[in-house]
Amino acid sequence: MAETTVKPWGETTIVGKPIPRVDGYERVSGGAVYPVDVILPNMLYGATLRCPHPHATVKKIVVGKAREMPGVRAVLTDADPEARVGWYEASGPPGPGGRRMLSRLFDPHCRYEGEEVAAVAAESPQQAWDAVRAIQVEYETQPFVTGMEEALKPGAPAVQEGGNLVGAPRETKRGDIAKGFAEADVVLEETYRSSCVIHAPMEVHGSVAQWDGDRLTVWDTNQGPFGIQSDIATALKMPLSNVRVISHYMGGGFGSKQEAGKYTVIAALLARKTARPVKLFLTREETFLCVGNRPAHIMKLKAGVKKDGTLTAFQLTGLGEVGAYPSDTSVGYQIGDLYTCPNVQIEESQAYINAGRNRAFRAPSFPQGNWALEQMMDALAEKIGMDPVELRLKNIPTVCQMQQNKPYTSTGLRECLTEGARAFGWKEARSRPKGDGPWLRGVGVASSIWMYQNAGNSTAIVKLFADGSVNLNIGAADLGTGTNTVMAMVVAEELGVPLDRIQIENADTGTTQYTDVSGGSKTVLADSPAVRLAALEVKARLLEMAAEQLKVPLSDLVFKDGAILAQGGARKLAITELRRLRGQMVVGVGRRGPDPTDKVVRPFSTDFAEVEVNTRTGEVRVLRMLAAHDSGRVMNLLTYRNQVFGGVVMGIGFAMTERRTMDSSTGKMVNANFHDYKIPTAKDAPGEMTCLPVDPHDTECNINGAKGIGEPATIAVGAAIANAFYHATGLRVTAAPITRAQVLTLLAERKTKG
Ligand code: MOS
Repeated sequence: MAETTVKPWGETTIVGKPIPRVDGYERVSGGAVYPVDVILPNMLYGATLRCPHPHATVKKIVVGKAREMPGVRAVLTDADPEARVGWYEASGPPGPGGRRMLSRLFDPHCRYEGEEVAAVAAESPQQAWDAVRAIQVEYETQPFVTGMEEALKPGAPAVQEGGNLVGAPRETKRGDIAKGFAEADVVLEETYRSSCVIHAPMEVHGSVAQWDGDRLTVWDTNQGPFGIQSDIATALKMPLSNVRVISHYMGGGFGSKQEAGKYTVIAALLARKTARPVKLFLTREETFLCVGNRPAHIMKLKAGVKKDGTLTAFQLTGLGEVGAYPSDTSVGYQIGDLYTCPNVQIEESQAYINAGRNRAFRAPSFPQGNWALEQMMDALAEKIGMDPVELRLKNIPTVCQMQQNKPYTSTGLRECLTEGARAFGWKEARSRPKGDGPWLRGVGVASSIWMYQNAGNSTAIVKLFADGSVNLNIGAADLGTGTNTVMAMVVAEELGVPLDRIQIENADTGTTQYTDVSGGSKTVLADSPAVRLAALEVKARLLEMAAEQLKVPLSDLVFKDGAILAQGGARKLAITELRRLRGQMVVGVGRRGPDPTDKVVRPFSTDFAEVEVNTRTGEVRVLRMLAAHDSGRVMNLLTYRNQVFGGVVMGIGFAMTERRTMDSSTGKMVNANFHDYKIPTAKDAPGEMTCLPVDPHDTECNINGAKGIGEPATIAVGAAIANAFYHATGLRVTAAPITRAQVLTLLAERKTKG
């Protein structure tokens, strides 16, 4: 099917509608088999011994006692030659030359509390854990650092050889920053901070590994089986074809499941050693230490603006806290491209500390950068006496300044701001009295841009059987966001087949087609065009069959609601009446075309928040939020809203409740559990949440017109809340999260200053 002949949808009957997940019943009834549910005959259970110290060298390990324990079938340490596999601890593209190997699987040099030291396989999880406790390890502890500023002081303990700075600072520049500040009527400077937020998907991380000769099958909870396949093959030096990774269902990833874990490779090695399948899933407490986080940032931002609202300069000096191993984190993008600004200078550094490293986390680095930029915009607006919505409208970008000023395929930021403000009742809310206390009310706004990822070359296969039922075959993992439902809707739209007659095969490197990881908010835009092209190919074959059967020219036929109409509808042929289809099936293969090269695809958003602050207790409540999003075409209004509401609640976690707390005297994380680490619950969600999609009818981003929502949904939430807090109180909370203690301190400081 030539993609160039495919027109955007006009009126749709299924795409765009609020349709419940096709696998909703399985998911909520317990019928769906997630990797964590997989039980194989003869299966053993793995458990991992982790370093209890923030920084230590393993001097000696004695495993004799553990090996003798009941039910124990294998103990694996760095002394076992098969465990001497290199390991990467850096994100990057999977495969040769991609992720860097930086440590051993059980590195004797442990750089954070929770680093892997040894592993056990036993007949039951209890026996495995008993054996882990029976392993005797002699550690030589070393000095450690738990914060990035401390890590960069002269004489600080080095986390990695070569010091605690991760490489040289990265610089981005455009225009003339000095000229920009000289032209400004108002220049403001502020230092913003954000805390480390821990990955906590519902399904904990883990794998089940099974060998069949030299072929390995792994059920792994992940966001993209092909990346995991590549990670395993690289670590174990195996051909990709011998590694099969399956993840039909998975219980949330948010970026933390884009790569294989050490647990994946450990499970495979234990399974090989014992010649039995091994299941190794982490405990919730383990996941707090070692499956990644959204790193803390310190962002010094200086900005210049003219009295009329024209931005003249942004200068950012940023520092990100990556943990014990290098990883990418860059907050500058948000500052470089959300608004038109001719003079920008960004310098970013990263520091090691003795703690678990970051992994991609729902819009990696964007909420942090947005926290700084959008509070700064709020402050600039106040200084020049302009409404914050107006200031943003004044600086809407028309081209992508970070990419050679190429135009965007669509820019819905203006509509997000104007339609959002109208629907939220911004003007009225902004001028409403704030109250006499102790509860004060305020409203705030923040916008965002998301960096659309290269969508790659997804392939999809649609098979239509003689009874009119369909098998849809796609490589992508559905993270729980409902992408499988969207794909089925595309088939249903094109073929008129009811959704319950479409069976989906997905996320299996052995049986499905290659697609890139479900990350970067790109699953729908990467794969749904391929699905549509596959369905269109099936449709074309069916029309050919009908033309032959009815002995009419192809041009006389139209396809409607799963049937072929001839002679203006006078004759109708159902799919099941096609004689040539009996005893066979029709197969359509769709391959997604490339992304546009002369234009840039970006989603935009604007969040509006109303908060209430108690000036006696420091309590902050988010009363309502309105999220206006330009995501291109909304493919399924119901799952789209789910993404937006989930993103808002996650943003509340970043802004108000979540923080990894390290004890600087022991180097340990003191809140590595759901009791002390506060994930927002339903009771923390705003009483009112509104999702307002703004569809710019993007016909250039891809043939389906969707630009993505998963990550944009959370980026600007925190800053909108902080700005509403400022509106209510006149106090700037520069550090996330806005804890009650911090609010009370700010209130007390103001009182003292008089
Ligand atoms: Mo995402 S942080 O690209 O899974």
